[in-house]
Amino acid sequence: MTTTRRAVLGAAGLATMAAPRALGQAASGAAPGAFTLLPLPYAPEANEPHIDAETMLLHHDKHHAAYVAALNGAAKDNPALGNRPLHETLARLGELPEAVRATVRNNGGGHANHAMFWQLMGGRGGQPSGALLAAVIRDLGGMEAMRTAFNRMGLSQFGSGWVFVTVEPSGKLGLAARANQDTPLMDGSQVLLGNDVWEHAYYLKYRNRRADYLAAWWNVVNWDAVAARYDRARAGTLTI
Ligand SMILES: [Fe+2]
Repeated sequence: MTTTRRAVLGAAGLATMAAPRALGQAASGAAPGAFTLLPLPYAPEANEPHIDAETMLLHHDKHHAAYVAALNGAAKDNPALGNRPLHETLARLGELPEAVRATVRNNGGGHANHAMFWQLMGGRGGQPSGALLAAVIRDLGGMEAMRTAFNRMGLSQFGSGWVFVTVEPSGKLGLAARANQDTPLMDGSQVLLGNDVWEHAYYLKYRNRRADYLAAWWNVVNWDAVAARYDRARAGTLTI
């Protein structure tokens, strides 16, 4: 939990202020079904020609759905999972029983990563403005330097994984790469945006050309959605 979140919760009192629930998580816990696959927030062809509709459908309806189903399976046997916000579970994986920890790490991470991912696509690329652009310039050397470093990290991630821009409650940005379905949420950090470099994210259209996919993906980023995440991160209310 971040210092800001601790301060917010402490100020309001744990008993009187519910922690923000994660996108794609039911308001009340009861498992199974505690975690929900939300529909894509745009048509599957919205990211054409950069990300093809067939990839979007398979990725969301099959791959993401499988993570949600497996996470709900784990929650069925461990109801407490459904009653805690997903980002908090991911930040405290070590507290889970060993028998379920890897399942939650892989599938809870997969659910959080993909729920984040869909929300920040469907746009027209370009660049942000205002406080977010200022932070990109200040912390990451500007848009071109950020994209170059981000793409390089995504390209050099061996096997399956993700590349992220992280954000501290102060607004400071950073870059991070993680294997499999790991996420900086597991370190208690916040994710501003992330790109999926599993082959299922690009192989139909780009085959083995991950670099081309990474370069093209920026054309579909919805910077208004990312800016809203940036505001929530600074307010301490960003979950996944
Ligand atoms: Fe994926």
